[in-house]
Amino acid sequence: MNANYPKAYKKGLQNFYGRDFVVNRDVLIPRPETEMAIDMVLNLVGKPYLPGVKPSKAVLDKNLIIADVGTGSGCIGITLKLELTKAKVIATDISKRALDVAKKNAEKFNAKIEFLQSNLLDEIDSQIDLVVANLPYVDKEWEWLDEAFLSYEPNIALYAENHGLKLIYELIDQTSSRKIKYLILEADPCQHQQIIDYAKKRGYIFGDVRGFILYLYLE
Ligand SMILES: C[S@@+](CC[C@H](N)C(=O)[O-])C[C@H]1O[C@@H](n2cnc3c(N)ncnc32)[C@H](O)[C@@H]1O
Repeated sequence: MNANYPKAYKKGLQNFYGRDFVVNRDVLIPRPETEMAIDMVLNLVGKPYLPGVKPSKAVLDKNLIIADVGTGSGCIGITLKLELTKAKVIATDISKRALDVAKKNAEKFNAKIEFLQSNLLDEIDSQIDLVVANLPYVDKEWEWLDEAFLSYEPNIALYAENHGLKLIYELIDQTSSRKIKYLILEADPCQHQQIIDYAKKRGYIFGDVRGFILYLYLE
C-alpha cells in the first residue's frame, strides 16, 4: 500500500472530539479544525467546553433543533447530540454511502439522530434553530493545494465550484429564505470575507470566527 495512504483509512478509525469514529473511503476523514465548530455551538448554548474557560452568555436554548448539513462520517451531528443530550439533531448528506457510515457511528455511540439523504436542506421540513455545515469548499485552482494528499478522499466531500463557494452560498440562500437564525460554517480562512459579504446581503451578521469556523446570525 502507498506510504501516503491515510492512517485513518488503514485503521478504519479517526478520533474526533475525543471519540473514535468509524471511517472508510466513502467519507472525509474528520479534521481537528472542525472540532472548533463543536466548541462554537457549546459556547452558544452556554455549556463550558474547556476546563477553566467560561462560556459566553447563552443565546440558544439546550432544547434546540440542529441540522448538520453534509454530515459525512456523522462526526459533527453525533458529537453535538452526545454533548447536548436535550437537542434534536437532523443530519443530511447527498451521499448514501456517507450516510451508511454516519449511521454506523450513531449506532456505535448510541446517538439518536435523524438521517436524511438530501441536497443541503431540501428534504428537511421541520423548523431548524441552528445549521452547522462543513460542506465541500476546496477550490481546485488553489496554488497551495496538495491534490496527492487529498486523493484518497471522495471528491464529493472536498471540491466545490465557484472558487469552492457554490454549496456554501446555496446553503446561505436556503437558511435565509427559511429564516434560520444561527449558522456555523467551515471554510478556508481565505474564503471567510466573501462568505460574510454574501451572507450580509441576506441579512446575516458576523458573530465570531475561530480558525476555519465562522458564526453568523440573523438579527
Ligand atoms: C467536507 S465533507 C464533511 C464531512 C463531515 N461533516 C466532517 O466535518 O468531517 C462534506 C460532506 O458534504 C457532503 N455533500 C456534498 N454535497 C452535498 C450537498 N449538495 N448536500 C448535502 N451534502 C453534500 C459530502 O458527501 C460530504 O460527506
